Amino acid sequence: MAGVELRNLNKVFTDAQTKKEVHAVKNLNLEIRDGEFLVLVGPSGCGKTTALRMIAGLEEASSGEIRIGDRLVNDVPPRDRNIAMVFQNYALYPHMSVYDNLAFGLRLRMLPNFFQQLTKMDETRKIKGEIDQRIREAAELLDINALLDRKPKALSGGQRQRVALGRAIVRHPEVFLMDEPLSNLDAKLRVQTRAELIKLHRRLGVTTVYVTHDQVEAMTMGQRIVVMKDGILQQCDTPLKLYHTPANMFVAGFLGTPSMNFIDAQVAKNGSRPLIDTGTFQVHLPEERAQALQEYVGKSVVLGIRPEDIHDKTLTPPSAVDKDNVVRANVDVIEPMGAVSIVYLTSGSQTLLASVDAETKAKEGAPLDIVIDSAAAHVFNKETEQAIV
Ligand SMILES: Nc1ncnc2c1ncn2[C@@H]1O[C@H](COP(=O)(O)OP(=O)(O)OP(=O)(O)O)[C@@H](O)[C@H]1O
Ligand SMILES: [Mg+2]
Repeated sequence: MAGVELRNLNKVFTDAQTKKEVHAVKNLNLEIRDGEFLVLVGPSGCGKTTALRMIAGLEEASSGEIRIGDRLVNDVPPRDRNIAMVFQNYALYPHMSVYDNLAFGLRLRMLPNFFQQLTKMDETRKIKGEIDQRIREAAELLDINALLDRKPKALSGGQRQRVALGRAIVRHPEVFLMDEPLSNLDAKLRVQTRAELIKLHRRLGVTTVYVTHDQVEAMTMGQRIVVMKDGILQQCDTPLKLYHTPANMFVAGFLGTPSMNFIDAQVAKNGSRPLIDTGTFQVHLPEERAQALQEYVGKSVVLGIRPEDIHDKTLTPPSAVDKDNVVRANVDVIEPMGAVSIVYLTSGSQTLLASVDAETKAKEGAPLDIVIDSAAAHVFNKETEQAIV
């Protein structure tokens, strides 16, 4: 097995028609650890597939270095990089059985050619045995034993997806590269296959780079997540670090559903202690975080509050109600989700989304007192959009 290291990696495409340059991946630096499950996430067009294809060798890097294990692989052809890739639009050979679909790549790769086979009978037999063993192992792992004789058209979408994964597994690669492999599956099957993939990774321990634009998939699957935007790495960390300490507004808004509320505000002062003034309500941060705002007093900032950090006051134990951070708001719409209710609120000129306990007695059109958990509030520099606290 092997880790993957990207150093100052760039990809510039030249559009065939307009001759315009597209800088798809910009100066990407990343160390993917041996055995790690790393997720690349970001909106459409941010360069995820391009980055993955460069690791695979399907796209040549414009500049920078790619290492797999200790080996610089920039000039190593894809087939010699010891990686296996699973695409969104995997194509199984329709006329071949599942078994032959799994065996096809291995036969090409491992067996001597037809004429040599006649002279190297023993070796050929041994390799065929090895191929068979790999297929049986993978089929066992993926629970597709019973399907080996079927043709792809006799399989469900989820089963086909597993065969596609099986083709990657039988190669015993050092690194798996997966590009949105679950996006063809329906919602339920996706969640199920997601869990299966994680289990599989635990068992095989193969370094995996997994591309998705789905932030839930990223949060649930990644040991670490790389968030990209416009070809640039925004932040790389564990899911919870990204969630609790996003480096900038983009990461903050991208991860978490519903998205974080962003409110234009000013840093004001209460005695010697900075506070956030939105014009309609104020948020008092805990001492240490407030002090970090000293140099921003009088300046414009953006306050970030996740919907789940806004609570219904009547459902909060009185001892837990921070009186400084109670806000009277108006309820516009309530969306019951089961365990929680999403409440659309207005306070003065500000609109807010809150995810509150479904026990809430909030009524559309009526006022509601909410408590903002100021310890979980974020403040961003309005110009650079970088996190201040
Ligand atoms: N062969 C190419 N020629 C020119 N531009 C390209 C080429 N391939 C990709 N691009 C451009 O590079 C940028 C990154 O594309 P990429 O496919 O890596 O995005 P992505 O993050 O995988 O998006 P998606 O989530 O939609 O798959 C896009 O602006 C895309 O239009
Ligand atoms: Mg893509």
